[in-house]
Amino acid sequence: GIIILDFGSQYNQLIGRRIREMGVYSEVLPFNTPLAEILEREPSGIILSGGPSSVNAENASLVDKALFELNIPVLGICYGMQLTTHLLGGKVKKGEKGEYGKAKLQIQKSNALLSGVSRFSTVWMSHFDEVETLPEGFVINGMTDVISAISNESKKIYCVQFHPEVSHTEEGTRMMENFVFNICKSPKNWKLTNYIDTTIAEIKEKVGDQKVILGLSGGVDSSVAAVLIHKAIGDQLQCIFVDTGLLRKDEGKKVMENYGEHFNLKIKMIDASERFLSKLKGVSDPEQKRKVIGNEFVAVFDEESHKIEGAKFLAQGTIYPDVIESQSVKGPSSVIKSHHNVGGLPEEMDFELLEPLRELFKDEVRKVGEELGIPHHLVHRHPFPGPGLGIRILGEVDEDKVRILQEADDIFIGELYKNDLYDKVSQAFVVLLPVKSVGVMGDERTYEYTAVVRSANTTDFMTATWSRLPYEFLDTISNRIINEVRGINRVAYDISSKPPATIEWE
Ligand code: XMP
Repeated sequence: GIIILDFGSQYNQLIGRRIREMGVYSEVLPFNTPLAEILEREPSGIILSGGPSSVNAENASLVDKALFELNIPVLGICYGMQLTTHLLGGKVKKGEKGEYGKAKLQIQKSNALLSGVSRFSTVWMSHFDEVETLPEGFVINGMTDVISAISNESKKIYCVQFHPEVSHTEEGTRMMENFVFNICKSPKNWKLTNYIDTTIAEIKEKVGDQKVILGLSGGVDSSVAAVLIHKAIGDQLQCIFVDTGLLRKDEGKKVMENYGEHFNLKIKMIDASERFLSKLKGVSDPEQKRKVIGNEFVAVFDEESHKIEGAKFLAQGTIYPDVIESQSVKGPSSVIKSHHNVGGLPEEMDFELLEPLRELFKDEVRKVGEELGIPHHLVHRHPFPGPGLGIRILGEVDEDKVRILQEADDIFIGELYKNDLYDKVSQAFVVLLPVKSVGVMGDERTYEYTAVVRSANTTDFMTATWSRLPYEFLDTISNRIINEVRGINRVAYDISSKPPATIEWE
């Protein structure tokens, strides 16, 4: 397969996904992974990703120069191109203005990477530094306003300043395919059906006749993990579903129907709503609420898992982006929100871990789910934060507010499905403000809460725009919420992008 060395670009997971979509195995490793470890994997090619730093900086992220002498093809993208230039004796300078967004690439001398690409094409740039002089043995293959494609074909080293992996680079797929197949001669060895078969065999082998427990949340990852493991070991899998009381309306009932009845999973449902609500009494700070909910979840799960006798394994729906993020060597970025993933459990628990999805990207997890027969609407659910409605009820949480919000949210989500809009937005929900305003209903004056409808479109949840939902649709949900949900007399629509706003309100 192809190894991608991660220098911190927001696009490096995308490189991995693109290559897997071509049917070729790819792996993202931290840039400082020792060469020996890279070689153990017998890569057919190595990609040096983009990254935020400058090769001329004092503590720049570097690799061992020997990487270029392994006779394994190398593709340097953005920072990867500057790094290659820098390490092999060329010069990188601070750009005059930098380039962000679309640019015209003009090919001056084609090579195996650019084979079949038009002489002029649109590419996506995002850089400040630029290559000034080439290392010995390299030629210029393409220009934008700056040197944008270089190579040393006899050493199979190829570099581009732009990002071939993003869809804005019109002929990027062709370039990626040229690298993966024509230059690296990678075998097509990545197929999800094979993955399912081998993983099931591995689970059987590893687990033997022992018991496995799993925290089922109803979200995509834990559900797919549960169904996959159940396929391997049947009722040796015991799921625990904790109802925090902060879930979407009827979530527990639906999980029991979808997975308990339909897939025959053994699920122990724990109604812990009172515990959570009482712990949340008097707490209104968002981070404090996250902490309280996270700790309480761990406490409940810990108690319940110990009641299950003889369980040896703890299964989790960890997926590849979680793995990449946890191994990443990026500098400490400031904590905006502590994304306390409830479902992430304490390490001191006395179980062996079983993580059958840890090699898969999200879209691959969905495909596996569909292969296993989980219905489309379950496999394509929007993400739901661990602290749940606890961070969508601004300020202090109580039972009444939870009920009000559940009702309103259920109307909104139901209408999105009914109008074929659910799959067109990335995450949608309702927020309940602790603000009351005056309204009129019949002849009565009302004084009730304000609900905010939020819907975001995004690919990576790092940046997002608000969904351009049709006015008529917004009118329908506003009317329905105000008429049907006692406690809300005003609905607002959130038209903030991220940044500077975030997707959630807390
Ligand atoms: P923000 O609000 O930071 O959200 O733009 C980005 C994504 O993260 C989710 N989110 C959370 N998920 N625990 C979670 O498991 C949390 O505390 C949490 N806070 C935000 C949010 O729903 C969105 O998908």
